[in-house]
Amino acid sequence: MIKGYMLIGGEKVCKDREIEILFPYDETVVGTIPDGDKEDAERAVSVALKGFEKMNQMTAYERYQCLSRAARILSNRSFEIAELLTKEVGKTLKEALGEVGRAVNTLTLSAEEAKRLKGEEILFDAAPGVKGKVGFYRRVPLGVIGCITPFNFPLNLTCHKVGPALAAGNSVVIKPSENTSLVVIKLAEILIEAGFPPEAVNVVTGYGEKVGDALVRDERVKKITFTGSVPVGKIIMSRGGLKKYAMELGSNAGVYIDSDQVDKLDFVAEKVCRGGFTMAGQVCISVQRVFVNDTIFDEFIEKAVSFTKSLKVGNPFDENTDIGPVIDKASADRIMEWIEEAVSAGAEIVVGGRRLSNTLIEPTILINVPEDVKLFTDEVFGPVIVVNRVKNVEDGIEKINLSRYGLQAGIFTNDIRKALKFADEVEAGGIMINEIPTFRVDQMPYGGMKESGIGREGPSFAIEEMTEIKVICFDLNQ
Ligand code: SIN
Repeated sequence: MIKGYMLIGGEKVCKDREIEILFPYDETVVGTIPDGDKEDAERAVSVALKGFEKMNQMTAYERYQCLSRAARILSNRSFEIAELLTKEVGKTLKEALGEVGRAVNTLTLSAEEAKRLKGEEILFDAAPGVKGKVGFYRRVPLGVIGCITPFNFPLNLTCHKVGPALAAGNSVVIKPSENTSLVVIKLAEILIEAGFPPEAVNVVTGYGEKVGDALVRDERVKKITFTGSVPVGKIIMSRGGLKKYAMELGSNAGVYIDSDQVDKLDFVAEKVCRGGFTMAGQVCISVQRVFVNDTIFDEFIEKAVSFTKSLKVGNPFDENTDIGPVIDKASADRIMEWIEEAVSAGAEIVVGGRRLSNTLIEPTILINVPEDVKLFTDEVFGPVIVVNRVKNVEDGIEKINLSRYGLQAGIFTNDIRKALKFADEVEAGGIMINEIPTFRVDQMPYGGMKESGIGREGPSFAIEEMTEIKVICFDLNQ
């Protein structure tokens, strides 16, 4: 049993009230974290203000060194951290090791960005009547940044917020998901061990309604960077007032498969299914809605069903397991309700559909799914894919755009004209051609259109959004 704590200015803070963290596979207790409150969050912000002053004393090179060192420490502890990820999230050990590798890369990319922040000269005399003035703008850090991070990639998605924030010279207060806080505490300790001032890296554990809310409402916090659901994103923006926001919200990513893929259906079906079922579908860019050209629909379904049947669902510590549990029983209850709703409305389950335990759900494919059921309109965040027939690429684009989300989308075709039409017309922050929407590398700009969010992550993009511009002007006439 791991006893977690909050980290405020490097001090380990415990509370009488605690929250249990469960291993999602069998719901045994992995550890506990303090049930933090408004006072803890406010204290952490006060400490982070001091941390910001200390960050101001650090050079860009020192920030680069600390982030590079943190990446090395994390890399050296890969296996231990991956095991903790598997315990907290329930993702397979292979998926967990993949996440640690990505987090090392995200910290390394952030380190590099610490050396690249730049401004440029402003030609003041390009305005009529101005002479003898020279100057430039530079990017300066914002101050204290509140990072509210999700359960699905607790390590890497925290690095995507904290890495660029520290690279730019800010201090942070992190509010991790209450399901997966232990790994975030480890990350914060690694950043401090790597040389960042303890006051600059704070973690306050607890529930969103208390800790998250206090961070959001605090006027001393200059930016909230959040990954999570659309409703929570909207609440944050309505309560937070005048500050900056980065919002990485939901999606129900769509893929179109053209008739010209007839000879590649084994490959495409496997890719699409992996995109829907990896991490039990708990990825914001999981494949959820698949639109297959009518002429190849039956063959595609046959191959997708056969591949899905080969997947093993079970204990994420077992090396033969492909799909682990979803995060908790309440999520599994909801996913099963959505499947039942779709079936009642006329959809047909072609594979899966059974619940194997409180948190294990078979990878499931439904066909002929009505467009007004939740599996089509909302984000399922579970191992479920819906597949419908479409006539052509135009029809596929129209169906994909029915969504109120727009994070990433994909098309499989040999026809460059269809691919480019799709790229032009689909409303999403990322378009993957001959690739699933689940594809992401950490240096690319990542973020959504429509209700999928505001802003872009990827260290070289996020760092700009973690700074503001200051203009400096000299009057040489005086
Ligand atoms: C997410 O679920 O938003 C992140 C997906 C990823 O980083 O691969």
